[in-house]
Amino acid sequence: MSTIIAPSILSADFADFAGAAAEIEAAGADWIHLDVMDGRFVPNLTFGPKLAADLRPRSSLPFDVHLMVEGPENLIEAFAGAGADYLTIHLEAAVHSHRILASIRERGIKAGISIVPSTPVSCLEELLPFIDLALVMTVNPGFGGQRLIPECLEKVKKLAEIREERGFSFLISVDGGINGETAGPARNAGADVLVAGSAFFSDADKKALVRRLRG
Ligand code: DX5
Ligand code: ZN
Repeated sequence: MSTIIAPSILSADFADFAGAAAEIEAAGADWIHLDVMDGRFVPNLTFGPKLAADLRPRSSLPFDVHLMVEGPENLIEAFAGAGADYLTIHLEAAVHSHRILASIRERGIKAGISIVPSTPVSCLEELLPFIDLALVMTVNPGFGGQRLIPECLEKVKKLAEIREERGFSFLISVDGGINGETAGPARNAGADVLVAGSAFFSDADKKALVRRLRG
């Protein structure tokens, strides 16, 4: 399976999300990554389900929604209605993550769980049978344009090993500081999905970048 490339509209022009979605599609990328931030779980604010709903008719690509919010259970219904394909919550933002993941799947949406750099993979162990995607943050979430923390790729390796040993089929996604240089090490560590924000939107030749990220 070739690596899935998911540009994040966090680094797009916020006055032109429709244009950003068109650029992502034209570049040959696979998914659109939507970073939802609440100003509490992370120190930044972005957008809510209405943006996904308004973009939905303008793109045929899957929407990969990354919820960096406290109380993610309050947004599941709205993002399901807005046409999310993957809904990823943070392990650190919810006590009853097992129940929330089940409620995502009940709506026919793929369920993802994410961990910040300080959370070990072992904290995910009991949830692995119930997820479609594990998102390993390789920066502290909140802002685009940060440097990838190389130690976090060890967590990707660990997850890939556990997946192999236990016969799971969830995708492993890597988010934060992915660019032409870091994509190779992330893929080698076992990433199936690469999220790229600033690298994508700052590159004049987006098609070439997507090819390079895919490897
Ligand atoms: C960070 C977000 C990322 C962000 C990545 O909090 O979750 O998806 O857009 O941006 P870059 O690729 O610039 O690190
Ligand atoms: Zn993200």
